[in-house]
Amino acid sequence: MDMLIAPSILSADFSDLGRELGRVPNADLVHVDVMDNHFVPNMTLGLPVVRRLVEVSDRPVDVHLMIEDPDRWAPGFAEAGAASVTFHAEATSAPVRLARQLRDLGCRAGVALRPASPVEPFLDLLAEIDMVLVMTVEPGFGGQSFIEGTLPKVRRTRAAIDAGGHDVWVQVDGGVDPGTIGRVAQAGANVFVAGSAVYGTDDPAAAVDELRRLARSAVAD
Ligand code: DX5
Ligand code: ZN
Repeated sequence: MDMLIAPSILSADFSDLGRELGRVPNADLVHVDVMDNHFVPNMTLGLPVVRRLVEVSDRPVDVHLMIEDPDRWAPGFAEAGAASVTFHAEATSAPVRLARQLRDLGCRAGVALRPASPVEPFLDLLAEIDMVLVMTVEPGFGGQSFIEGTLPKVRRTRAAIDAGGHDVWVQVDGGVDPGTIGRVAQAGANVFVAGSAVYGTDDPAAAVDELRRLARSAVAD
């Protein structure tokens, strides 16, 4: 399985997002964090901005919804043309119905888990989703340090996906950098969100290539 790098524009310059997208032409996905100041204690951007980002980005847009009531709001992001929409397990009341709606709109459906949320309730539902996002920090802010205790959950998620023969991606988000990406890759992640480790450098494109190289080499025999 190839390793996909998804720079998070949370760490980019919000005054010129079009230009910031152009600095990572080699990204596999562009990760956009939507926060509502209710599900998490921070607020970022919403549907009108995502709609424009989809229009100007030549990379697929991966939306991470850190909002209450994704059952109501998530389909709008799929209609806006996002390649994938990930909602939090803790915030939805009907994850399967929502995932089916997103897929019907031609979008990949992701379920995100806070560090303290178990993956087990979803292991029988893997056929209904396209991605599990294991948060490796508490959601809400960029630049936090990686929580090592999330690695067993990454391993259990990957093991269940493989055991069931599912085609489901495992994404990790938070504190992913050149020092941690190898360990999460070995644990079974294949989609790596990185904010500060990409946009906090002078050369974001070079950072993307380096992260991909490190992830690949961590799982190469
Ligand atoms: C945090 C966001 C992340 C954030 C990661 O809640 O979901 O996508 O941008 O930032 P870093 O890579 O700096 O930890
Ligand atoms: Zn995110």
